[in-house]
Amino acid sequence: MTAGRIGIMAAMPPELQAVLDLMPDEHRETLAGRHFWPGRLAGNDVVAVVSGIGKVAAATTATLLIERYGVQALLFTGVAGGLGDGVRVGDVVAANQLMQHDLDVSPLFPRHEVPGYGLSRFTADPTWQGRLSQAARTTLNHRVQHLGQKAVNDFGLAHARVHEGLIISGDRFVATSAESDALRRELPDALAVEMEGAAVAQVCLDCGVPFAAVRTISDRADDSAHVDFNRFVSEVASRYSAAMVLACLQARQPAH
Ligand code: ADE
Repeated sequence: MTAGRIGIMAAMPPELQAVLDLMPDEHRETLAGRHFWPGRLAGNDVVAVVSGIGKVAAATTATLLIERYGVQALLFTGVAGGLGDGVRVGDVVAANQLMQHDLDVSPLFPRHEVPGYGLSRFTADPTWQGRLSQAARTTLNHRVQHLGQKAVNDFGLAHARVHEGLIISGDRFVATSAESDALRRELPDALAVEMEGAAVAQVCLDCGVPFAAVRTISDRADDSAHVDFNRFVSEVASRYSAAMVLACLQARQPAH
């Protein structure tokens, strides 16, 4: 059955693991070197998959989800580096727009414009974005329940917030202050940087599939961007992803 089927993507296995743990009847299918996990989640028909890191890996995976698995909406979850003022480690950003910060076909086209599309920013589906940001607020309100008090204290998450705005994507892990300062100068309204979202948004636009993305901030995309990254992903971001995806799907009326 593919009616109303939802695709759930993350770039790395630890980002998706807690989502898979919520799927009681999932099974693994391997296609193009990726493991796809069809199953059910909160009464919805879903396919979860780890895309791999970067725009090409994500675009290939999104295309397979749409063409082979017939997903009719696609959600991306995982971590991102915080860029915007006040976007701190442990905050959550729901994208309303996504763009490729490393796309530059100037002088043939304006900087960042995607040739053939006449635009540089892709818009997230407002209904799914609304569900994800509401799910993010609910999740952060129950952060101690999801993470335990120790993780909240260790990672300093007591005042974590949800933001909505621009997420930028590029094939580079941003790990120096010089680079993140340059991105802030170039794209002052960018809240967070990651490596997949805008590519998936472009595939979804091509195929007419609604897309939304939500990212937990794992670092400030500066000289300390690598510190405790793996521990943060497994102890915080993966649990947040599962809680947010679950709450988002519970808010949706499943197709029968
Ligand atoms: N994902 C998480 N942190 C990131 C960073 N600093 N740069 C790019 N992608 C990221």
